[in-house]
Amino acid sequence: MPVVRGKLIEPLFTPEMIAERNRTMAVEIAANPKKDLLVISILKGSFIFAADLIRALHDAGLAPEVEFITLSSYGKGTQSQGVKIIKDIDSDVGDRDILLIDDILESGRTLRFARDLMYERGARNVDIAVLLDKRSRREGTLDADYVGFVCPDYFVVGYGMDVAYAFRELPFVGIVKGDA
Ligand code: IMP
Ligand code: MG
Repeated sequence: MPVVRGKLIEPLFTPEMIAERNRTMAVEIAANPKKDLLVISILKGSFIFAADLIRALHDAGLAPEVEFITLSSYGKGTQSQGVKIIKDIDSDVGDRDILLIDDILESGRTLRFARDLMYERGARNVDIAVLLDKRSRREGTLDADYVGFVCPDYFVVGYGMDVAYAFRELPFVGIVKGDA
């Protein structure tokens, strides 16, 4: 098992598995006609996935505009749970097709907030692509249109995802198993 800075990390999804899935997901996405497509990467966790998926979209024949939004959830595990915008996109979304990209769909709060926001701003259609879907954690009904992998209910790191700001740079997705 890989040891990274003294921690054992069990690989769950390898770089090869992720690259292959990105390629097939991009083909699925490109199969539906798009109007003035704007891809929005939800930071920070999705930055590596978005960078790879966007290039796969190019290979699949799409030429999206690309934007970034930084969202943060507050009050995890308390009564007043919500999502706030840390940094907004600059582009107008009116009458455009939007593809939201995030790393993990868990409770669904983050992506529900982002999707509703884009519809309130007049988006024509909002689709959701996530690398990982932790279905067992969903609150309410929200599904992604494109899912890389269904993820078991472990805290995962790598490929953009962190624990306490660490491990975003790993080329694979893995589970921190403790000290080596
Ligand atoms: P949701 O709003 O509950 O769906 O949470 C989704 C967000 O929580 C994702 O965008 C991630 O940033 C974060 N998250 C959820 N599970 C994990 C994990 O296992 N590792 C790293 N970040 C996670
Ligand atoms: Mg996130």
